[in-house]
Amino acid sequence: MAQWHLTKPVKSLIRKLGIWSWLLDERCQMKTLHFGIIGCGMMGREFASAAARWFHLPDMSVRPEIVAICRRTISAEKISWFKDNIPTLRQVTSDYRELLDNRDVEAVYIAVPHNLHQEFYCAAIEAGKHLMGEKPFGIDKKANDAIMARIRKHPDCLVRCSSQFMFFPAVQRIGQMIEADAFGTIIEVNVGFLHGSDLNPAKPISWKRMVEYNGEYGCMGDLGPHVCSVPFRAGWIPVNVRAVLSNIMPKRPNLRGEMVPCETWDNATLLCEAKDSNSGDVFPFTLRTHRVSPGQRNNWYIEVLGTKACARFSTKDANTLETLDYNGREQAWQKIEIGHEVTFKSITPGIFQFGVSDAILQMCAAFLYELDKGRPFTKFSGCITPEETTLWHRLLTAALKSHKSGTTVALGRVEY
Ligand SMILES: NC(=O)c1ccc[n+]([C@@H]2O[C@H](COP(=O)([O-])OP(=O)(O)OC[C@H]3O[C@@H](n4cnc5c(N)ncnc54)[C@H](O)[C@@H]3O)[C@@H](O)[C@H]2O)c1
Repeated sequence: MAQWHLTKPVKSLIRKLGIWSWLLDERCQMKTLHFGIIGCGMMGREFASAAARWFHLPDMSVRPEIVAICRRTISAEKISWFKDNIPTLRQVTSDYRELLDNRDVEAVYIAVPHNLHQEFYCAAIEAGKHLMGEKPFGIDKKANDAIMARIRKHPDCLVRCSSQFMFFPAVQRIGQMIEADAFGTIIEVNVGFLHGSDLNPAKPISWKRMVEYNGEYGCMGDLGPHVCSVPFRAGWIPVNVRAVLSNIMPKRPNLRGEMVPCETWDNATLLCEAKDSNSGDVFPFTLRTHRVSPGQRNNWYIEVLGTKACARFSTKDANTLETLDYNGREQAWQKIEIGHEVTFKSITPGIFQFGVSDAILQMCAAFLYELDKGRPFTKFSGCITPEETTLWHRLLTAALKSHKSGTTVALGRVEY
């Protein structure tokens, strides 16, 4: 990772300006990781924006600097947002291989349609770049297996998958409760991610509603990784699954207004038996990934019910954690206003509310922290590992089989 190398006269001039000397001292010790972004759509922009407000995190000793971007088609209009906002940008290309050949690029963030994950992720790892890839980390299990094989060949690359919900302060608290074994025997765990906009039959089809680009998993590939993140990190692993999948809107208009087949699953409801890898306890575990969920916008939720304590959180009420501590007397839920209680210190005061772009910033910090220090800050503040992506591919593949056969499907042993 590169550091700032300023000549002596430049340093002394900056020191003479007085107020900036602290910044100089900080920054001269600050390491810089040169990033390339491949895929400049919604998530590519989120990543670029997070990198741009790095000074929000005063305690970080490493920062990202975006030096290259790749998008499928280059047009002045499409790339102007990146060019106008990223002064460090030196390479703009439509060929991801050119970006990977750029020796200045040390790490890549890749956010492209799922059918490209295997090719792009494998090429990035083969080129020796650290990789923050997007979920589901391969369009299907076969693609994920291929990515995993490439990771094993290149152990020096840090490879992680993006999923930001674990970084909400309330979810971090739930992580701390899991680590402290506060829940007692787990009675049940319920997680879900609910969207409502697909209820509109006039919403045009996009690659996310096409099997060719999004994959057979449909809504499970898009939303499922996010809901698996906390339970899998906790070591709550499904041993079997009964899935019910629905294609509620089998046709959608294309951009010309013609009705075309829309074959991806809209909604998936999974009931599993999960095993706690620490205690061996087995308990019911439900996962709901619904794109047609009336009244919902972008509702990621988790509910953990245990014999000693319970907790629940939803991004609908993103600054509130609900807990129930059972001490043999009253069983009462309490609401705790969490605010901006972040893992990677932020300049935002603790009383301010927290949102998705803050979670993305925290997640990026987790990636750079782990790269710099060689380990995550805490168990629940590390990005999703490749092994965790394999766990969800195993689950989602079994869910497809379960729906098709109308039976409960065993998941078998976990093998990495
Ligand atoms: N973490 C999250 O909350 C979250 C949210 C949405 C999407 N995602 C994931 O991010 C990824 C991208 O989703 P998105 O919503 O940003 O999609 P998007 O459609 O907004 O962006 C995808 C981008 O990939 C580009 N692209 C396509 N083919 C390319 C090629 N050959 N070379 C270079 N660029 C190419 C497209 O031009 C587009 O700009 C997916 O894996 C998706 O599952 C994650």
